[in-house]
Amino acid sequence: MIIAILKEITSGEHRVSAIPATVKIMVKKGMIVKVEAGAGEGSHISDNDYKDAGADIVSDRRSLLADADLVLKVAPALDEEISFFKDGSTYVSLFQTTKHLNQVKKFSEKNMSAFSMDNIPRTTMAQSMDALSSQSNISGYKAVLMGATHLSVYMPLLMTAAGTIPPAKVLILGAGVAGLQAIATAKRLGAQVESFDVRPVVKEQVESLGAKFIEVDANEDDGVGEGGYAKETTEDYKKRQQELIKKHIAKSDMVVTTALIPGKPAPILIPKHMVDVMKSGAVIMDLAAENGGNCELTIPGEVVTHNGVIIDGTLNLPSTMPVHASQLYAKNIVSFVNHLCPEGEINMNLDDEIISGALFTHNGEITHEPTKEALETILKPNA
Ligand code: NAI
Repeated sequence: MIIAILKEITSGEHRVSAIPATVKIMVKKGMIVKVEAGAGEGSHISDNDYKDAGADIVSDRRSLLADADLVLKVAPALDEEISFFKDGSTYVSLFQTTKHLNQVKKFSEKNMSAFSMDNIPRTTMAQSMDALSSQSNISGYKAVLMGATHLSVYMPLLMTAAGTIPPAKVLILGAGVAGLQAIATAKRLGAQVESFDVRPVVKEQVESLGAKFIEVDANEDDGVGEGGYAKETTEDYKKRQQELIKKHIAKSDMVVTTALIPGKPAPILIPKHMVDVMKSGAVIMDLAAENGGNCELTIPGEVVTHNGVIIDGTLNLPSTMPVHASQLYAKNIVSFVNHLCPEGEINMNLDDEIISGALFTHNGEITHEPTKEALETILKPNA
């Protein structure tokens, strides 16, 4: 079986889907690993490093893909890449299936079996394949560091001969994987940290990191949906949530927002009127910018200022730390490859919940129901 590791061509993508250590694992299983020349450059891995690990280096992408049975990538494939994929081949990358419908259609037209690392079930068995967690962790860490450099104030409490500087106040909205890492990072920098999440179950985790959990006065677990993920909340809950956030945001120097609901646009937690009550010089780091943003004024991919408040919607933070992002992602993906190919060849066991959970096209069909429905909706004549 031939595995292709592509050089990412999406703008700003510095990660790579395999590192020499994971190439060695695949080669040991009897797989032929072909790496596109320069694939590791963004992550400071040379072609020679891959060669030493047992890979072949191929300069021509078209011929590399013409041979490949399994293509491993980081960012969703672009049309120009898909056109080179071999009919019936297998594909794995990070991929929000309901967002990239055009590509989904092309995969199914080519009879490809396409897997999304985003859709791997969050189960104990699949923990080593959980790329959402490995990459979100980096986002949470990096967001706080970037936010700290935007700030005009210190993060820690300082007692100096010239006077006492109080610690910065940091508010983290959404205490999932990214949010918890953001809390830990802000605490390490000495800030006073508060956090809010619709899932009351995270209170203990927030407090164990030394932050204060702020709560909406509600009688039920309003924001908790299937699989422990957040779900959309009721209007009444949203109103109370907004009042609570507004009160805390007015005092904050930095706000990091990470709130996401799988498969949906990011919920707006900070409408414009809330930015208006923030201090001049305060910073919002919007980690949900990829899905529209948690702040109404966020412009994905840009840093903007409103009344002195800096709103940072930088996309793809994991790619700004490519060495560790690639290392962790490559480990996630090789765990998945091992699971998919226990004997060195693909074993499409559709009864396996990890395989069927991550699969979104197979044998010319779209196998992921919400994606199929989304595509049917846009293809309807009057949609
Ligand atoms: P995510 O990226 O989907 O969302 C981030 C956070 O935003 C979540 O904590 C969510 O509750 C929160 N949120 C959503 N809407 C909100 C709103 N309106 N206001 C405030 N907060 C809001 O979540 P992530 O980080 O991917 O984790 C989601 C779940 O998956 C968690 O329950 C986590 O514990 C679980 N998980 C399980 C793993 C495993 O068992 N292997 C591994 C990683 C996560």
